[in-house]
Amino acid sequence: MIRFRSFAAAAAAVAALSLGARAQTTLKDAYHGFFRIGAAVNTRQCAGQDAAGAALVAAQFNTISPENDLKWERIHPQPDAYNFGPADQYVQFGEKNHMFIVGHNLVWHSQVPRWVFQDDQAKPLDRDALLKRMHDHIMTVVGRYKGRIGGWDVVNEALNEDGTPRRSPWLQIIGDDYIQKAFEYAHEADPQAELYYNDYNLENDAKLKGAVELVRKLKAAGAHITAVGLQGHDNLEWPTVAQQEAAILAFKALGVKVSISELDVDVLPAANRQPTADVSATAVAAANSNPYAAGLPDSVQQALAKRYAELFGVFLKYHDVMSRVTFWGVTDGDSWKNDLN
Ligand code: GLA
Repeated sequence: MIRFRSFAAAAAAVAALSLGARAQTTLKDAYHGFFRIGAAVNTRQCAGQDAAGAALVAAQFNTISPENDLKWERIHPQPDAYNFGPADQYVQFGEKNHMFIVGHNLVWHSQVPRWVFQDDQAKPLDRDALLKRMHDHIMTVVGRYKGRIGGWDVVNEALNEDGTPRRSPWLQIIGDDYIQKAFEYAHEADPQAELYYNDYNLENDAKLKGAVELVRKLKAAGAHITAVGLQGHDNLEWPTVAQQEAAILAFKALGVKVSISELDVDVLPAANRQPTADVSATAVAAANSNPYAAGLPDSVQQALAKRYAELFGVFLKYHDVMSRVTFWGVTDGDSWKNDLN
């Protein structure tokens, strides 16, 4: 029985099987002509400290996303201090390997320092001041990588599970149009860049309705939105094929592309896994919550391989609107599901 050591290896095998290609093919070659295949990379891979990881990424993938290095708290930790070093290395790594480089992300409620929403007396900013801060950040970060980063997650996770707008500090201070403004500023900073809305659980009906409404509004307001990223933090049962298809078709009908932007498939039994991709929820994961710490039983390994085949079957069916499928983490050992964020 073959034991796959990583998402990449498992999915490469799926690629080979579903396309009838030879087992030695790479992921990016197996899907050539259909969509790009990506990995979220970490600082150590881009800096060459994890040489095996970097080599695997270079061999298998033709697009990368930064796991953490372009998030606000990393790249802009203090009001007047940017930390471009790791992000520069990330972009250089992608260029060296001729990859499509994704920027993740510009406006999010998580992994953003508290000062962003406050003045120097720690009082909440008003609308104009926060818009100015958002504008400065986007112009600086997107501007720095203009023409090099090909597409940006402009706004991440702006919706609640019931499809209503998440009452983040962005929404509370700026108001409903903060998303539109973020898209406007990103387009101003790099008119050629693709711009995305990115979220999880959009395969659930209520949240999908909310996202469709959001994209419709953005388009009506003239926003340059290229695609919606379905994060794809999946498990062995969810989303069903019907749910996955419905989400893809809903955005296709609006004339935007779709990507699977953060794919991972959780194999833990339902009682042991997080019901959400909310990063704060990972903190409660306890060591004893993993029944497979000593290794994955073959039966589960087979179920995982089948599940990848099922999901990739859907992605291939809609390859005309699917721009990329990106795995979140290069190997299981890198995964945020192991609390490595
Ligand atoms: C969300 C974010 C990602 C990553 C994952 C898991 O999906 O978009 O940047 O943080 O959570 O960590």
